[in-house]
Amino acid sequence: MIRVLFVCLGNICRSPMAEAVMRDLVEKLGLSSSIKVDSAATSSWHIGEPPHKGTQKKLKEFGISTSGMKGRQLSFNDFEAFDYIVGMDGSNVQDIREMLRQPNHPKIFRFLDLTPHRKDVPDPYYTGDFQETYGLVVEGCEALLNKIHADIK
Ligand code: 4NP
Repeated sequence: MIRVLFVCLGNICRSPMAEAVMRDLVEKLGLSSSIKVDSAATSSWHIGEPPHKGTQKKLKEFGISTSGMKGRQLSFNDFEAFDYIVGMDGSNVQDIREMLRQPNHPKIFRFLDLTPHRKDVPDPYYTGDFQETYGLVVEGCEALLNKIHADIK
């Protein structure tokens, strides 16, 4: 089993979007029994809350369900529990490294560094542009699947 954790600040906009898109891709590829996907926040602000309405609406537009998803905070145990711990932006990655006390581990990295964009995922909580974020999330998830494929060879 390969375990992937997406992490952002609130776990209501970007990381649940990545979780839902990745799970959808994994299901479509018939890999659900091999790849497990989850998401978490660096903050405690939205624990127990469903994804942001804008994230729900954008995913629904593409036929992707968010049912049952609830915000949770990153915990120290997540370091051992996951194989890929993916920060949506550079400050998420810094916070993850501190919270998990892993200054330099390669399983912790910035999502879009897997793509030619090599930038932060814009936060639609502030930009309001859920479409821009969705497009980048899809690109990042496809790149992550390619990385997983290459890593297990
Ligand atoms: P996210 O976006 O990290 O992509 O979930 C945010 C959600 C909530 C807040 C900030 C960013 N907030 O300030 O509550």
